[in-house]
Amino acid sequence: MDTADHPVQNLSVVVRQQTFNDAAEIDRLMGLGFSSSHSGRNIWRLREGEVLDELCLVAEAEAGHLLGSIRYWPITIADKPSILLGPLAVDPAVRGRGIGVQLVRQSLERALSGPWHWCFISGEPNYYLKFGFSPVTYEDVSLPAHIEEERLHMLALSSATPEDMPPKPWPVLSMHSFPKEAK
Ligand SMILES: CC(C)(COP(=O)(O)OP(=O)(O)OC[C@H]1O[C@@H](n2cnc3c(N)ncnc32)[C@H](O)[C@@H]1OP(=O)(O)O)[C@@H](O)C(=O)NCCC(=O)NCCS
Repeated sequence: MDTADHPVQNLSVVVRQQTFNDAAEIDRLMGLGFSSSHSGRNIWRLREGEVLDELCLVAEAEAGHLLGSIRYWPITIADKPSILLGPLAVDPAVRGRGIGVQLVRQSLERALSGPWHWCFISGEPNYYLKFGFSPVTYEDVSLPAHIEEERLHMLALSSATPEDMPPKPWPVLSMHSFPKEAK
C-alpha cells in the first residue's frame, strides 16, 4: 500500500489509499460533513459505478480511525476520460489544520500521472482555486442535471490537449453513460 506520513499542524496523520475496510469510517465522515440529502444532489448523477481506487485517499490518525476522505469517480468531458473530484470531508474536530489540503494535493498528484484529461468539481466556490482549478460556467460545460454555477470548477491534467477540444459547451457525463470501449 502506498502511504506517506504528513504532519498536519500538530497531528500525525498518514495519508493512504482507501481500502474496502474503510467504508464504515468514510460513511461516518460523510455523515459529519454533509446533510442527509447530500446523496440526492444532482452531482451524484455523475457518480455512477465504482470509484477510482487509486485516487481515493484517506487521512488516518491511528489504525482504523479516519480524519478525512476524498473520493473520485470516472467521467468524460467532451468524450475525454476525466475525473470528478469529491466528495471531500474532514472530521469537524480537526478542520482548519491542513488535512483537506493534503488530501486534495496528494490525490491530484496521483491524477497527474494518470490517463485523465480534466478534473471537474462541484465544490465550495473559494476552496479549490489554490489547487489551480478555474471556475467554469454553462457556456463552458453542459451537465446531466443542474448544479449552481458558482460551484463548478475544472483543472487541466497532464493528458489534456485543449487544442483538440471541440467547441463549447463540453458535455460532462458519467463514464458509465458511455459504452465500455469509450473508456
Ligand atoms: C471543506 C473541508 C473539506 C476543508 O477541510 P479542512 O481540513 O478543514 O481544510 P484545510 O485545513 O486543509 O484548509 C483550510 C483552508 O480552507 C479554507 N476553507 C475551509 N473550508 C472552506 C469552505 N467551505 N469554503 C472555502 N474555503 C474553505 C480555510 O479558510 C483555509 O484557508 P487558508 O488555508 O487560506 O487559511 C471541511 O471543512 C469539510 O469537511 N467540510 C464539510 C464537507 C464539505 O463541505 N466538503 C467540501 C465540499 S466541496
